[in-house]
Amino acid sequence: MNVRVLTGIKPSGTPHLGNYVGAIRPTVRASRESGIDSYLFLADYHALISTHDPARVQRSTLEIAATWIACGLDPERVTFYRQSDIPEIPELTWLLACVCGKGLLNRAHAYKAAVDKNTAEGRDPDDGVTMGLFMYPVLMAADILMFNAHRVPVGRDQIQHIEMARDLASSFNHLYGPHFTLPEAVIDEQVATLPGLDGRKMSKSYDNVIPLFAPREQLRRLIMGIVTDSRAPGEPKATDGSAVFQLYQAFATAEETAAFARDFAAGIAWSEAKERLFERIDREIAPMRATYDELMAHPARVEAMLRAGAAKARAEATPFMARLRAAVGLRPLDTLATMVTAMGTATSWGTATASTAPAKAAPPVFKQYREADGRFYFKLTDAKGHVLLQSTGFDSPKDAGQAVARLKAEGWAACADLHGAVTAAAEADKIEAALARLR
Ligand code: ADP
Ligand code: TRP
Repeated sequence: MNVRVLTGIKPSGTPHLGNYVGAIRPTVRASRESGIDSYLFLADYHALISTHDPARVQRSTLEIAATWIACGLDPERVTFYRQSDIPEIPELTWLLACVCGKGLLNRAHAYKAAVDKNTAEGRDPDDGVTMGLFMYPVLMAADILMFNAHRVPVGRDQIQHIEMARDLASSFNHLYGPHFTLPEAVIDEQVATLPGLDGRKMSKSYDNVIPLFAPREQLRRLIMGIVTDSRAPGEPKATDGSAVFQLYQAFATAEETAAFARDFAAGIAWSEAKERLFERIDREIAPMRATYDELMAHPARVEAMLRAGAAKARAEATPFMARLRAAVGLRPLDTLATMVTAMGTATSWGTATASTAPAKAAPPVFKQYREADGRFYFKLTDAKGHVLLQSTGFDSPKDAGQAVARLKAEGWAACADLHGAVTAAAEADKIEAALARLR
């Protein structure tokens, strides 16, 4: 099975060169590796936590989606979608909220920071705190668990949220069976922190950014404005601590960087160094800028890509959510009627009929075995040895075992997604009855 890598991108603000070098470029590269299934999504429900400006949410969603595609993300290869196109995500958020202690969320960094700030400033601790902010780690857990991601590449500030996703997955699994994979955070230690125009970390909070898709002339102007020391042309220049040099290095090959360092030692003029930096960055960005501008001019194309991505994501999310609903007891009531009848149990709300599965007969059994083809099979037989269910071959005993566990826990009708791999060899109510007995 491929490793599933999932990450969310919050549509807030215009992406800058720092975002490109630190997040977009490495993620796009990783998505091309073999053995990896990438899930990338626009976390627009998350954006609602920090902005109540509808036009901005919409605009930013378009910009960020167009950016990722322009930077080489292949929507055919990865699952690229918009969070709010997947209604199963808020549905799962609720199931997880019901196994999430409030105390866990009291400890979340973003919420604690808001409370600490209010307290320090003498306000009510929860002043201005919405339930969106408070519940944010649960929504993020649903994003991750919905697709059973193994790895979640994030910045350091997000590690706590991945740990919370693991906690919620464990609580749910403990109560309802092994449904969720426990995700792991992946922190890229290699990624350089790009300096901004003033030499501090490039960040929209410092207002020192170079927008990734600034038009060529604006890009040039911004680069010419990068702060440098006052060494004159001909004077040797230090590469250490030079924003011009660090930016160059983030785009150039090792050889180009070494040549640039030699030119620094030989006293290149700052204006010439900046011109070279500009040309080097523009060489990488220009083709992507053309695609970006094209997509921004045709939002319907981006919309179509996101919808196709959502269909791909929901092909997984919808059946998985059906299983989760069944697991927690959100089940069709007619399966209960069958169960009560079949179990032969007289209760205050149902009476057994004698014809089906008498309570005293030997129980049905699941038999698991391996065939000469090397694959793993199981069948369910009744007390007399009649086959009720017959599986096809599974790759591993674990997969076969999980299918058996689910059939036992949830019943035949609730496992519709298994119907391709397991064939009914008797009437559905006989099967349900047998499974209900095993339960
Ligand atoms: P900002 O600091 O501008 O608000 P974000 O916090 O939205 O940026 O960051 C989004 C992604 O871009 C994160 O993965 C972050 O690590 C990366 N990133 C942001 N700024 C830089 C930078 N200057 N250098 C490298 N990576 C960065
Ligand atoms: N909270 C993340 C951020 O602010 C974005 C995000 C939302 C995310 N859901 C996610 C990241 C799921 C990884 C996995 O950057």
